[in-house]
Amino acid sequence: MKISFAEPNLFRSGAVVVGVWEEAVLTPAARRLDEATGGAIMRALSAAPRFRGKKDELLPIVGPANLSVSRIVLAGLGKSDQAEARLFQQLGGNLVAHLNGAGETEATFAIDLDEGAPIDQTEAAAQLAFGARLRAYRFDKYKTKQKPEQKASLDRLTVATAAPGAAERAYEPLDKTAGAVFFTRDLVSEPANVIYPETLAARAEMLTEFGVTVEILDENKMRKLGMNALLGVAQGSARPPRAVVMEWHGAAAGGDDNPRSPLAFIGKGVTFDTGGISIKPAAGMGDMKWDMAGSAVVIGLMQLLAVRKAKVDAVGVVGLVENMPSGTAQRPGDIVTSMSGQTIEVLNTDAEGRLVLADALWYCQNRYKPRLMIDLATLTGAVVVALGHHCAGLFSNNDELANQLIAAGKAVGEEVWRLPLDESYDREIDSDAADVKNIGSGRAAGSILGAQFLQRFVNNVPWAHLDIAGMAWSSKDTATVPKGATAFGVRLLDQFVAQHYEKK
Ligand code: BES
Ligand code: MN
Ligand code: ZN
Repeated sequence: MKISFAEPNLFRSGAVVVGVWEEAVLTPAARRLDEATGGAIMRALSAAPRFRGKKDELLPIVGPANLSVSRIVLAGLGKSDQAEARLFQQLGGNLVAHLNGAGETEATFAIDLDEGAPIDQTEAAAQLAFGARLRAYRFDKYKTKQKPEQKASLDRLTVATAAPGAAERAYEPLDKTAGAVFFTRDLVSEPANVIYPETLAARAEMLTEFGVTVEILDENKMRKLGMNALLGVAQGSARPPRAVVMEWHGAAAGGDDNPRSPLAFIGKGVTFDTGGISIKPAAGMGDMKWDMAGSAVVIGLMQLLAVRKAKVDAVGVVGLVENMPSGTAQRPGDIVTSMSGQTIEVLNTDAEGRLVLADALWYCQNRYKPRLMIDLATLTGAVVVALGHHCAGLFSNNDELANQLIAAGKAVGEEVWRLPLDESYDREIDSDAADVKNIGSGRAAGSILGAQFLQRFVNNVPWAHLDIAGMAWSSKDTATVPKGATAFGVRLLDQFVAQHYEKK
């Protein structure tokens, strides 16, 4: 789908979309179109009394006889004093889905705003385009028999706005964000026979193209480093593990002569999680191809920081393994010595993400002395029980960091909800045989115990853990995220970095 910006012209071909505020108040473009069609819009509104111009309402009208447009769509904008960036983003996404459903090939969004709207015209236009682009994502490379009506039809979108040049400039960074989101969604969507530790590391290596320094640690290197917690998970698989270390140096370019230690992002990259010897039930196991989403988000974020030349120093570390049962697999009850020196009793081989992260966190903290660490992981089914598919679980040892993440999530519509960490929970993972065990004794507080486990591998550094198990993949379409891989976290963390840690 090609997106462009142009000055308003209601007499194009294809669909034309105009906005209607709540209580059926026409925007200026809608008024002009009503005049040009001899009152077709007002007639449609009186014929459809249930359309009130509320947010998310769409009213399609057949193309009027006197114009070249194929159809007019009235888009509800809600209350004019509540019109914000997210509204236009979601509208752009909803319209793309609507127009594809109708088989439209060409469309013009002519959604102008009245004076005094809380968002300016240019920003609204850029956000419409951004939402449209995000929703237009498809992962259909393996569908070889799609009929034309199963494919996206919309291939030309024009956003009409008074200052197209300015809108294009406002859209440029959003387009980069969409590129990183798509890169991430692609990684997550690929099946586990295509994306496994070596191939995922190879994809991460492509970031060198954008100026990221990429280093790949192989099995030997990790053995020398003592990463036995990670290696224990990998030992059942025929696919050798990898760790990838990505550095982006943008602080000096931002005029920071004395760059501080980097921000660090750490991702769980279990390219397939069978559960290992503590094997998972068959039903739904295919979902576990996306158990590497945390690592994909870290890789996608590093790409975005580099592509938009973020004025910050950041490092990404991902631990990549496949969790398989086999004659060489780790057994429940095995005790491994992690890189930190702490011994771990592995009582359930399906609680593997924390074993991978234990070494990745320790390595990152030791090597970089980062000013903060944020890890992302599809860590527990329990977080889905607690929070469903509306927000990710957030755990942190630092209130300021937690609040910054909560605010960034709200700003981009990728929300997180903080859950507790506490000494009393920590007692539940004390092991009889080793320093720590990788599960508690029952099913209670599963996500918190996972976070407590990770915290044992974090020293005195501000740290946050995002349990994205309920958010990495969506079984239904939302306005800007078609069902499938969401890339949840890329926009959140990019916003977090831009808001608080970048030289302006
Ligand atoms: N990858 C899973 C968590 C998961 C479950 C993610 C469902 C997405 C959807 C993780 O490795 C796992 O298996 N966790 C166990 C932990 C338990 C054994 C303590 C779980 O949640 O059951
Ligand atoms: Mn598991
Ligand atoms: Zn897992």
